[in-house]
Amino acid sequence: MAVETETTENSPTPPGHMLRHATFRQLQVFEAIYRLGSFTKAAEELFLTQPTASSQIKKLTEVAGLPLFEQVGRNVKPTEAGTHLYQACRQIFSALNHLEAKFDELKGLKRGRLRLAVITTAKYLTPEMLGDFSVLYPDIDLSLKVTNRDRVIERMLADEDDLYILGQAPEKDIEAEIYPFAPNPLVVMAPRHHPLVGQKNIPFEEIAKEPFIIREPGSGIRDATQRVFSDSGYKPKIRMELGSNEAIKHAVVGGLGLSVLSLHSLALEGSEGPLTVLDVQGFPIWRQWYLLHRKNKELSFVAKAFLRFAIHYEIKIRERMLRTWPGLKIQGDIKPSISDK
Ligand code: PGA
Repeated sequence: MAVETETTENSPTPPGHMLRHATFRQLQVFEAIYRLGSFTKAAEELFLTQPTASSQIKKLTEVAGLPLFEQVGRNVKPTEAGTHLYQACRQIFSALNHLEAKFDELKGLKRGRLRLAVITTAKYLTPEMLGDFSVLYPDIDLSLKVTNRDRVIERMLADEDDLYILGQAPEKDIEAEIYPFAPNPLVVMAPRHHPLVGQKNIPFEEIAKEPFIIREPGSGIRDATQRVFSDSGYKPKIRMELGSNEAIKHAVVGGLGLSVLSLHSLALEGSEGPLTVLDVQGFPIWRQWYLLHRKNKELSFVAKAFLRFAIHYEIKIRERMLRTWPGLKIQGDIKPSISDK
């Protein structure tokens, strides 16, 4: 008697199950291209040649049955399908990361010390991130130094900490491993009752007429503020210089002037506090945070674990930003296009 057996070998894949044919490597390559905004950088990070990365994406596209990136001039841009796939990848990698940390814990790698030095805007999120990290590694000692960009770079050159967070990649002559990891939009802040509040698309020249409060020399935000003024051909009317974002927020509420600060500095009060964000042409200035360490530094187990954890924490940061600022168009504005040069 002939019995027909079910075979999976050559049978067509049932509709809706195509993605199960994707390999983990393809997803890794895809995730890295999307996150880093470049085929070249992704290939570098994964120690692949660029043709290999491209062929992985070609196969993944076939499996997905939809284009994942599209060509715009000389650049490529993620499609809607690509964006959905990216979100799924982040969840998969985040779950694996979690599992890896659990496995390490089971292997007994529980103790150690993590030393971080971060720029001032990152202080609005690093403590929370450390809180979540210490749920996974409760016995690790944590040390967090918050200071400005120049001091963070000095600390890195002196090898004082394990990992660093900057708001802008360091100059080329500083030898560092750099991991872009989360958006950091800079906005113009005003007191809630300022006459410009509620106006749409305010021209920069209106803002340039106002007194400004600016951070101290050595601050990355100060540099970014000065750059936006000089690019627009104006000189800021500096009323006051202050060495702390929180002090600046109080000075803005006190009516001393406007200021350019990170949107993250409103993390606790959100959109309901005494400060508000003006809708100024050219803003937000989309910046990004970078995690980094000195090149060739032998990272401790804890530092490696934190690095992995932090990179995958980005999705949480984005979710929190969107909860607080539902109108914010994070993704498109940060990575408008993926350059393949
Ligand atoms: P700063 O850096 O603390 O040096 O101003 C903040 C940033 O670049 O986001």
